[in-house]
Amino acid sequence: EKTIRIAIDGPASAGKSTVAKIVAKELGYIYCDTGAMYRALTHQAIEKNIEVTDEKRLVELLKEMTISFEPNGDNQKVFVNGQEVTEAIRLPNVTNLVSAVSAHGEVRSELVKRQQEIAAHGRVVMDGRDIGTAVLPTAEVKIFLIASVDERAQRRYTENMSKGITTPLEVLKQEIADRDYKDSHREVSPLVQAEDAILLDTTSLSIEQVVEKIREMIHIKL
Ligand code: C5P
Repeated sequence: EKTIRIAIDGPASAGKSTVAKIVAKELGYIYCDTGAMYRALTHQAIEKNIEVTDEKRLVELLKEMTISFEPNGDNQKVFVNGQEVTEAIRLPNVTNLVSAVSAHGEVRSELVKRQQEIAAHGRVVMDGRDIGTAVLPTAEVKIFLIASVDERAQRRYTENMSKGITTPLEVLKQEIADRDYKDSHREVSPLVQAEDAILLDTTSLSIEQVVEKIREMIHIKL
């Protein structure tokens, strides 16, 4: 049986991880959330009072960090040096600083190396910003998932409500737009659609409709 690598990139809150997890489960593949790795480093930097502008110290910190994932039902737990950080890395302080941390070239080269090791045997669904362009440029399936800022903010708002988080919709919109701007305008591996990626606009699609489209893209490669 053929094994493939599926790269899913796109802007913040476009639903990448939601669909990546479903597709990985159906195929029995590994799911790798690369954003969680940048978030884990950002979280550790905050804990250790390291400035997000201090590339040298961030890289030193990263080299001492093991980042691991453990399945948890349909989700994943995230650990740094054996300590669980699953929820901590989603908090607003991390979200608001992660783009500054991920802009550093040496931070990226260390994490890209780890991501390539995870994907070395194929059978992987990986989501992020630069998977199709930098991490797995020869991935068999590349998808660039987008949705309007309004739609992404609305989805995040609904998700937050179910968790008791009450950030106003307008604030979410601004945060999403800011992060997209920073991720798309950095010098090293900015967020950009790979030339051979398939663009999928999910603005008016349900999760199941998005998954179905991705299934079709995968099955012609298998
Ligand atoms: O996907 P998620 O929103 O969790 O990613 C958090 C941040 O990590 C992004 O806004 C981006 O700055 C960074 N990131 C990246 N490259 C990736 C994945 C995430 O630069 N492959």
